[in-house]
Amino acid sequence: MLSLEAIQKALQAVKYPGFSRDIVSFGLVKDISTANGAVSVTMQLTSPNPEAAQQIKTESERVLKNLPGVSHVHVEVKQPTAGQAATGSAFANQTKVPGVKRIVAVASGKGGVGKSTCAANLACALKHLGAKVGLLDCDIYGPSIPLMMGVYERPSVSADERLVPPVAHGVKVMSIGLLLNDDQPVIWRGPMINKTIHQFLLAVAWGNLDYLLVDLPPGTGDAQLSLCQTVPLDGGVIISTPQEASLGVVRKGIAMFRKVNVPILGLVENMSYFTTPAGERVEIFGHGGGQEEAARQKAPFLGEVPLFTEIREAGDRGTPIVVSAPNHPAGKAFIQIAQALRQKLD
Ligand SMILES: Nc1ncnc2c1ncn2[C@@H]1O[C@H](COP(=O)(O)OP(=O)(O)OP(=O)(O)O)[C@@H](O)[C@H]1O
Ligand SMILES: [Mg+2]
Repeated sequence: MLSLEAIQKALQAVKYPGFSRDIVSFGLVKDISTANGAVSVTMQLTSPNPEAAQQIKTESERVLKNLPGVSHVHVEVKQPTAGQAATGSAFANQTKVPGVKRIVAVASGKGGVGKSTCAANLACALKHLGAKVGLLDCDIYGPSIPLMMGVYERPSVSADERLVPPVAHGVKVMSIGLLLNDDQPVIWRGPMINKTIHQFLLAVAWGNLDYLLVDLPPGTGDAQLSLCQTVPLDGGVIISTPQEASLGVVRKGIAMFRKVNVPILGLVENMSYFTTPAGERVEIFGHGGGQEEAARQKAPFLGEVPLFTEIREAGDRGTPIVVSAPNHPAGKAFIQIAQALRQKLD
């Protein structure tokens, strides 16, 4: 007997054209039925692009015909008209950023767990591993990336009127903090923020990037959700501290990504433990909570980052520890996590 699960699993091999994500994770498969070796699948695209539809149809038919026991395949791909698409679902409004291969969000269910620290260090670690990397600070109210990356110059404007991101430690950086004066509070409302983020993606001359990391503001509320919908994310990384892990904070982060069909690349446990100058390991917030929670949530565990004064100091100085001391245990921890992350994105 051909199960619906087997059919769905087969369709997971079909990527949305130009994206690293599959059509099932994007929520495009609306109906599957099967009887006597015949399979019928209905999909609803949110883009009016006829080439994408044809490619998805051909590829889906191919993988389904390869399933044992399948004798006949019917794939229907529905598309909105160009007019409908503009007002359609969230995904319709996502535009691929030209030249950028992978966009990854760094989020957590809670503030102050080290999202920005991890985003900055992972960006530098991916660069250290030889990738072309950008770092986009989506925290409009509390941008901390400029400080952590040590960038203060204003972006210049190119001949074709795009913002040119300054480069720090080999990483292209964009943040609202680079555009506003220090003491100017941001009092924008949601729509304005979304518009800014949109501009940050499409009106910034990112050039060719292997990875664009996106530092999200704290929390998993509506603001974060709509950001995840604005940005065509390839996946999300969740940062937690050991004690938060057990409090449902991780679950909230995972739920947020799942709501908008963004694959969870994994969980990072930050501030895992502290090593005293004498070498004694002290587990201030408990330990292993992240790994256990990741297992419970069936999400990959990417690694742990110890609590080190040097990490904070490096951040405050504008040179992430991965850059200032790649061989320090903290630098190594970030590089290992970047390696794990890169594997998930291949
Ligand atoms: N592993 C670590 N060891 C030592 N200090 C750390 C570590 N991770 C983060 N910090 C420090 O903790 C503070 C909060 O980190 P960070 O700003 O990265 O958190 P955040 O989750 O981005 O916060 P917010 O929710 O406000 O955006 C910073 O001062 C940072 O230097
Ligand atoms: Mg932050």
